[in-house]
Formats: sequence, C-alpha cells, structure tokens
Amino acid sequence: MAFGNFGPSLTALEIFDLVRKDLEQVEREIGIESVASVEAINYISQYLQSGGGKRLRPILVLLCGRLFQDSHASVIRMGAVVEMIHTATLVHDDVIDMAKTRRGRPSINVVWGNHTSVLAGDWLYMQAFQLALRERNFAVLDLLINLTQRMVEGELLQLDRIGKIGVSETDYMELVDRKTASLFAACARLGAVTAGAPDDAETRLGEYAWNLGIAFQLIDDILDFTSREKILGKPVGNDLREGKVTLPLIYALETAELEERRLVETVLADGNYDQVPFGKILHILHRHGGIERARERAHLFSSTARAIISEFPPSPYQGALAAVTDLVTDRDR
Ligand code: IPE
Ligand code: IPE
Ligand code: MG
Ligand code: MG
Repeated sequence: MAFGNFGPSLTALEIFDLVRKDLEQVEREIGIESVASVEAINYISQYLQSGGGKRLRPILVLLCGRLFQDSHASVIRMGAVVEMIHTATLVHDDVIDMAKTRRGRPSINVVWGNHTSVLAGDWLYMQAFQLALRERNFAVLDLLINLTQRMVEGELLQLDRIGKIGVSETDYMELVDRKTASLFAACARLGAVTAGAPDDAETRLGEYAWNLGIAFQLIDDILDFTSREKILGKPVGNDLREGKVTLPLIYALETAELEERRLVETVLADGNYDQVPFGKILHILHRHGGIERARERAHLFSSTARAIISEFPPSPYQGALAAVTDLVTDRDR
C-alpha cells in the first residue's frame, strides 16, 4: 500500500511497523468518510487517497496516542481527521500556487480545474470537521478550529509576500509556524488528548511536534532546491518560480552581491527560469552557504524536538517519536 513510505531506512520501517495496523484503520476511515452524493467528490477523494503521501501527520497522532493508551478508536479517528485537513490544505494550496504536480501526479487543479478543486477542498475540510464532531469533545474542536484559521491566515500572509525579495527571517518563520508547525503540534496534542493524556504531557508533546514541524518545512524548502522531481514528486526550483523566497535564499541574499540579487529578482519577476537558469540560483545559494545555514537551523529545531521527547518514559513509541526527528531532517522527499 502506498502510505507511510519514508524511504528505505530501517528505522523508518520499524516505526511504521509499530503503527501499521492503526494506520490501516485510518486509511479505511478516510475511505469511508470520503464518499459524497456528488460524483466529482468521490473521484477526487479516490485520486487523492491513492496518490501516495507520507502520512506523517496521522503517524504522529497515532504514536502520541500510543504513549498513553493501546489502540483506541478516538485516536484512529483523529488520524483520519488530520490527514483529511492536510489534504484539503494541499488541494487549496495547489490552486493558489497554480501547481502542476503533487505526489508525482498531475495535481487536482490540473485534472479538475480550479473551481471544482476549491469546492472539493471545502468539502474535505467540512467532512474532517464532521468526523471530529463525533467525538463530542470541545477540546478537539477548539484545537481544530484554531488550527485551521491559523493555517488559512498563513496562506493569506504568504500571498501578500509573493514575489517580494525582502522577506525577513522573522517573516519566513512566522509562515512556517502557521502553515506547517501548527498542524504538527495539533496532531501530537490531538493524539494525546483523545488518549487521555494529562495536560502537561499534551502541552510538551505539542512543543515537540511544533519543533519537528518547523524542521520539516525547513527541509522541504531546502529539498525544493537540492532534490530531483522524480524523488520529490513535485518540481524543483518551484518555490522561487512561485515567487516564494525561502530560508536558504534569505540567508544567501544577506551576503549576495548586487548582480546576484538582480538574478534572483529576475526569476521572481518572470516566474520562470528562462532568463536565469536554475543552476545559477543554485550556484548563488552554495556560494553564500544558504543551504548549509538553513540545514543547521533545521537540525537545531529537530534536536529541540528530540530533547523534549527524551523527557518522556522510554517505550517503543517514545523511541519512534525520537527517531522521527532524524527521519525528518535526513529525508529526501
Ligand atoms: C507537504 O507536506 C506540505 C508541506 C508542509 C511541505 P508533505 O510533504 O507531508 O506531503 P505528503 O502528504 O507526504 O504528500
Ligand atoms: C505548504 O506550502 C502547504 C501547506 C501546508 C498549506 P507549500 O506551498 O510550501 O507546499 P508545497 O511545496 O506546495 O508542498
Ligand atoms: Mg504549494
Ligand atoms: Mg514547498
């Protein structure tokens, strides 16, 4: 089955084995919940679910839940909820970014067009909330509603910064916090809360996952420059083409010469690499150590996550959460 696939690392497989059964139930639940009375939704849901994806967010929910309780229907349900929310954000994100590829296939907006994609994304959000509502747990709804609003605000802030070369590290970190880390934090807290964790443990797990999420997005933004489309499942050099100035570039621009800055501005203005080849941008990044510095930052956040999770009593699940911190920084897709 095409889920939970981090690549060939043995540790990844071991982690995956710990939650394999639970994850199968999550997949089943997503399948059941993605059926609508309108055909378009069914096609799109099918396409999305069968399109791969690492399932990192439900894995986080499940591992955090398992710290406090054996397999539990509420935790499984939360796994499905977060993956559905994640998918909905990706569908909307690809419309906004005019993306062509996602998970190695044409993105939803390419296959079904923008109008249908926006509505399908809305439907998925609402279905996720309907599923969450079955818990009859206000703490869960509170977390999810706050989270979704933060993520949407993040996308709005990002829109405002598209095409601008003067994005600061602080601006950038705020976006990463909103669009990625907040969802990771919510995953950990939802797993903990529905498994009956004490408040302080829930808070600490939220902090663990927040740091993990920041590291994850920093690596995503590095891979956008350093990986290959075949591995990544989406085109490389895409962020800059879409007008997004991410951390490796922010760092490189600090010491870049005027001429180098102009080259970056040209790509931002053109929205393509016709005048300035991607290799030139890579050269600037390497010359000014942008990739290296961004990678160091990512490692800093993943070590903070690791330090937090090491406060928890040792167990296979705690060990897996610790190992995930390395997987996130060492991944190639
Ligand atoms: C993509 O997330 C969006 C980002 C936060 C970078 P993933 O890289 O986890 O996407 P899938 O689910 O594996 O496709
Ligand atoms: C991440 O934003 C998507 C969300 C979390 C909404 P990006 O635009 O950077 O993600 P990719 O690169 O398209 O996966
Ligand atoms: Mg995007
Ligand atoms: Mg990206």
